[in-house]
Amino acid sequence: MKEDRQQKTPFFTKLKEYGVSNTVPFDVPGHKLGRIENDLLDYTGIETFLLDSNAPVGLDHLSKPTGVIKESERLMAEACLADKAYFLTNGTTIGIIAMIMSTCRAKEKIILPRNVHKSVINGLIMSGAMPIFINPNIDTDLGIANGVSFESVQEAIKKHPDAKAIFLINPTYFGVTSDIERITKLAHDNNMLVLVDEAHGAQFYFNERMPFTAMEASADISASSFHKTAASFTQSSVILTKGRRIDHVRLRSTINMLQSTSPSSLLLASLDVARKTMYFEGAKRIDHLLQMASKARESLKTIPGIKVIDKDYIVSKGSFDFDETKIVIKVSDLGLSGFEVYKMMRKKYNIQLELAESHIILCVLTIGTTKDDLDALIYAFKELSKKYYKIRNKLPKIKFEYSFPETYTRPRDAYHAPSISVPLQEAYDEISAEMIMIYPPGIPMVIPGEIITQEVIDDILFYVKKGSVLHSDLDNGYVKIIDKEHWTKWDGDDDEL
Ligand SMILES: Cc1ncc(COP(=O)(O)O)c(C=O)c1O
Repeated sequence: MKEDRQQKTPFFTKLKEYGVSNTVPFDVPGHKLGRIENDLLDYTGIETFLLDSNAPVGLDHLSKPTGVIKESERLMAEACLADKAYFLTNGTTIGIIAMIMSTCRAKEKIILPRNVHKSVINGLIMSGAMPIFINPNIDTDLGIANGVSFESVQEAIKKHPDAKAIFLINPTYFGVTSDIERITKLAHDNNMLVLVDEAHGAQFYFNERMPFTAMEASADISASSFHKTAASFTQSSVILTKGRRIDHVRLRSTINMLQSTSPSSLLLASLDVARKTMYFEGAKRIDHLLQMASKARESLKTIPGIKVIDKDYIVSKGSFDFDETKIVIKVSDLGLSGFEVYKMMRKKYNIQLELAESHIILCVLTIGTTKDDLDALIYAFKELSKKYYKIRNKLPKIKFEYSFPETYTRPRDAYHAPSISVPLQEAYDEISAEMIMIYPPGIPMVIPGEIITQEVIDDILFYVKKGSVLHSDLDNGYVKIIDKEHWTKWDGDDDEL
């Protein structure tokens, strides 16, 4: 049964009222509710500006909500079966950092898969927590890292019974989930907290055919990018919590440490309305989307030279579940890399894909996706197949196996250590003082404190050659490593945090 109160959008409603209240604005923002001339105003009209205000009387404070924001957050919590929700205007990026900083103190252990987003590594640097990495399942055919097995978490807990928390990804960028319910129970039985990255899982909360959510699994806390798959504005996310293990005072103060003191009212309003739409329409519209996605998958499967990933495939590879609103396609048998297809789709067919890897591409589907969009995708792949299948040679199997480098010291330790820059080729066997990744997906190939292997060097060179966007502190082929001559490794006894 749907709750009638979910029809309300407390923050958005108040914001609209404020916009047309003819208030004399001696506060910021400086555009003064659109009383200026500029190109953006000409383009969008004044309404956008009327909705952009900075905590005037009656619109509550995001850092300590007591009014309409609090009401809107309560509705969000109810809609997601959580006990409490915190709105975020700096994305799940800060949600993840806040989850880690507020639960793990310096040197406390956190068990986590190595294929985490860079924000998790930043959370480790900022909290000083000690990562205990577990290897995710690797699909060497597709060249992606998936979920973690229950057994690998069990083994890590056995080896590190003093760990403070387990961190899970629900789902990965490519839609793969782990057995979050069983792992959460195991963690709680061992007195550990469960933190969940649900950046790509906001839609799970609104349709029963979707994989399990963190809150259903009784995980303690999750951060979810509503903007990615639940149709709010970019950068608007939520933290959800369940149960009594989270220290809310510490969580609140940590969020406030990281979040802007001038949160965007447009983003907050977009969370309010997205929640309402998903609550009332999500189940039906995601059902429809799943139907369209399934038909599109069937059509795509008939196209020679491409392989379409589905739940059966993912499960057969040892992973737990799959979010079928993601369309993952292996394209390398066309003789094209994912990167090439990504560019061709945009240039030749006006299709913007979410992501490419060397052998695959990823499409993200949401309730905004239409049948025409999917038809355009099918058409484009038919054309690519006609043009390239059996004309070009299939790409060779993926050359690297995604083995992650070994941790030598805590990320925070490495971040604060004296460092020097050396050409990448000379960094073999050195300890990285920086994080290097391709964006997207933003999963670091090496993080501060890890030993740089030849494989890492080869991977970086491979991606650079493919023209991927490399994120690193340094450019021009240099990498930052720990200056071992002037550094002493923390041995666990000193007071350095
Ligand atoms: C797995 C994962 N976690 C976290 C994030 C960060 O989310 P946001 O973009 O909302 O800051 C991303 C972003 O792409 C992601 O892919």
